[in-house]
Amino acid sequence: MRLDVVTIFPEYLCPLDLSLIGKARQDGLIDLSVHDLRDFTHDRHRSVDDTPYGGGAGMVMRPEPWGEAFAHLMASGEHGEVPHLLVPGPGGVRFTQVMAHELALEPWLAFACGRYEGIDERVIEHARTLMPVTVVSVGDYVLNGGEVAVLVMVEAIARLVPGVIGNADSLVEESYEDGLLEYPVFTKPPQWHGRGVPDVLLSGHHAQIARWRRDERLRRTALRRPDMIARLDPAGLDARDRDVLAEVLSSPGEGT
Ligand code: 6GU
Repeated sequence: MRLDVVTIFPEYLCPLDLSLIGKARQDGLIDLSVHDLRDFTHDRHRSVDDTPYGGGAGMVMRPEPWGEAFAHLMASGEHGEVPHLLVPGPGGVRFTQVMAHELALEPWLAFACGRYEGIDERVIEHARTLMPVTVVSVGDYVLNGGEVAVLVMVEAIARLVPGVIGNADSLVEESYEDGLLEYPVFTKPPQWHGRGVPDVLLSGHHAQIARWRRDERLRRTALRRPDMIARLDPAGLDARDRDVLAEVLSSPGEGT
């Protein structure tokens, strides 16, 4: 998978040299390039922003460097291939695990990181004439720029690219993959700060362990993410599941 990131802070993307993503890049599974938007300016000050038409606070990213950056990306594609452009911003569609799976199937993604009050809207309109474009938000809060959102999205997407995670089993029983949060996990020592480990996990009884883990997933999800419980397919719940949920919902005030 090819990934290109355009930003005025290339150093912000340094974490992508590390850990699983860094290894995937070394292994040739991910071909990631970070481009400095200022390299597409021509004035002495390499300026990328200007005051907003209509007035108001802050600065707006000028269109010209973005237009040149897109032309550079398009020219680098082989046999007419174009990237899917993702533009991070709090006004975008919500980035989800489903979207991460869809994007992990694409051969080429590009990210345009805005700063200041945003990018001149004509940049998005122009980009849509060149390639597919999606404006994406990573959550209902405001970041100072798109770079951290790109770190989030690249990590979520890249780990779904075949080969990036050695043990594909770690991908299946995870939060969001089946609409429930994860069960709690424990390791040695068996006693720590006066706290033990749930007996069932030491029992070696695989069916009971599986049932306990599912109960914990249902409890946690009901307590922390009632919105996810509301979206569950009732056909996917057995009688025990319904009992566990009923118990949680009838005991208000229990900690999360
Ligand atoms: Cl993708 N960008 C910015 N700047 N702020 C955000 C966001 C993205 N998602 C939530 N807040």
